[in-house]
Amino acid sequence: MTQNNIQELSTTLVGKSPRPILKAALGNFQNIVLSFSGAEDVVLIDMATKIRADIEVFTIDTGRLHAETYQYIESVRKHYNLNIRILSPDKVSLQTFVRDKGLFSFYEDGHQQCCGIRKVDVLRDYLANVDAWITGQRKDQSIDTRAELVEIEVDKNFSAGNRSLTKFNPLTNWTSQQVWDYIVAYQVPFNPLHARGFRSIGCEPCTRPTHPGQHEREGRWWWEDSVQKECGLHKKT
Ligand code: ADX
Ligand code: SF4
Repeated sequence: MTQNNIQELSTTLVGKSPRPILKAALGNFQNIVLSFSGAEDVVLIDMATKIRADIEVFTIDTGRLHAETYQYIESVRKHYNLNIRILSPDKVSLQTFVRDKGLFSFYEDGHQQCCGIRKVDVLRDYLANVDAWITGQRKDQSIDTRAELVEIEVDKNFSAGNRSLTKFNPLTNWTSQQVWDYIVAYQVPFNPLHARGFRSIGCEPCTRPTHPGQHEREGRWWWEDSVQKECGLHKKT
């Protein structure tokens, strides 16, 4: 799609709910992939497989997920009969990093380097071969970093040279409540950690449950400022 086409499509998608955004994404792109974090973004798998049964779904296995998340990814794989692509970090970079800085350096000098190796570099390599990707981000996930999240955008982080990568955020206009209403109504399998107070789920050492009065993002990288709570997958440039 050209920038103009994206602009036109974005106007028609403003304020829309997930299904029409997904339909537009899959209708306009053949070489498109759906990301799955192992959390409540599973609703997109439920919706997308009803539109395109063999959609390519991927997840980044950082090597540091909760045991429950690994089991959950496997149950989603079976439930939807999907060959979820499980991406791993580059072996050499990871071994050098943990040899030099150990397994918990993020508590001392921030999560950027570890997230860079375990997530961002992995995603960059993978997205180099696709035209568009779909994420489960929502506006209500972060007042600091996601309040302006649009339905479709050019992904400036991962576009390279004159190749433009398109990014769809079908859940952006939904609240957490709407996502959970869908999970219950359609009996979608969910990560058991959600029942134990985890609302936003990432890697095990960097995620903790939140109290009812807290924002969900407070459970992620809790030792850092809220404006830094992006791992780089969705950083604005
Ligand atoms: S993060 O950037 O802080 O880690 P978050 O957990 O809010 O992201 O998830 C937002 C969206 O980013 C997910 O719905 C998914 O689209 C994508 N995402 C996050 N983590 C992963 C992962 N491990 N594998 C694939 N996609 C992911
Ligand atoms: Fe590393 Fe934590 Fe980032 Fe996971 S969330 S990649 S463990 S810093």
